[in-house]
Amino acid sequence: MAGPNVPDSVKIRKLMDMLKDKVVLVTGAARRVGAEIARVLHAEGASLALHYRSSAEAAKALVAELNAARAGSALAFQADLLDIGHLPRLVEEVVKHYGRLDALVNNASSFHATLIGNIVERDWDDLIGTNLKAPLFLSQAAAPHLAAARGAIVNITDIHDERPLKNFPLYCAAKAGLSGLTRALALELGPHVRVNAIAPGPILWPEDGSFDAAAQANVVSRTLLKRCGDPADIARTVLFLIADAPFVTGQVLAVDGGRSVVL
Ligand SMILES: NC(=O)c1ccc[n+]([C@@H]2O[C@H](COP(=O)([O-])OP(=O)(O)OC[C@H]3O[C@@H](n4cnc5c(N)ncnc54)[C@H](OP(=O)(O)O)[C@@H]3O)[C@@H](O)[C@H]2O)c1
Repeated sequence: MAGPNVPDSVKIRKLMDMLKDKVVLVTGAARRVGAEIARVLHAEGASLALHYRSSAEAAKALVAELNAARAGSALAFQADLLDIGHLPRLVEEVVKHYGRLDALVNNASSFHATLIGNIVERDWDDLIGTNLKAPLFLSQAAAPHLAAARGAIVNITDIHDERPLKNFPLYCAAKAGLSGLTRALALELGPHVRVNAIAPGPILWPEDGSFDAAAQANVVSRTLLKRCGDPADIARTVLFLIADAPFVTGQVLAVDGGRSVVL
């Protein structure tokens, strides 16, 4: 416990307002993991640019929730991330509104099975487009603003980046690319911008029923902690990487209940 004889370095720090006056763009922020990332960063004082594609109602509700807690601290921005030409405009709209950009969280993703023999170019465009291409072009557009702010990028990848998930070869390749891109961008954008990634294990099941009860139980049984994670587990790690990890860059951190240890 912190006390009079405890050195400053080991005192438990109060986390309040770690992101005061900072502006963060989170993609796919209307629902699920992205919405929790937005809430946790907002609770630490950040102003939020909430990107969404089709979840307009959820985005609107989250903006209202965050602005009720702190007026003028959240705004939603609509974009299909497959429209690469629009991405520089998205970044400029955020900077025009808030006057700065301190962090980019590339969270948005498409996720579906692609069976060898049936893969078509549309699958490639969608899975590579959302999970790899958009993060690259968004990072490129954001880089000058992030450098000016001595900011950070956090990419949300997957523990299946290195160890593939059966029937999901394209998704796994896209996330492998994103993890590689994380290291490459850390090299390109240092020393002024840190770039890291989080590789979640099982957090929230897909809503399309692609993981039935037996498949879910099988995955959970092969985590070391014998349970799913919570979106807050990802969100607080995003907070750590943005606000409390000044000497960490080029890393991919698994937040997976130990699942990757035995994959
Ligand atoms: N959930 C897990 O257990 C888990 C496990 C491993 C890794 N991850 C990773 O963690 C992140 C969050 O997971 P999640 O399950 O919360 O994600 P998700 O619900 O599958 O997707 C997040 C958002 O991505 C957006 N999106 C999809 N295609 C888009 C496009 N073309 N343009 C713009 N936005 C698009 C959607 O926004 P709209 O709804 O507005 O259309 C969606 O709400 C993802 O990167 C995922 O790969 C999650």
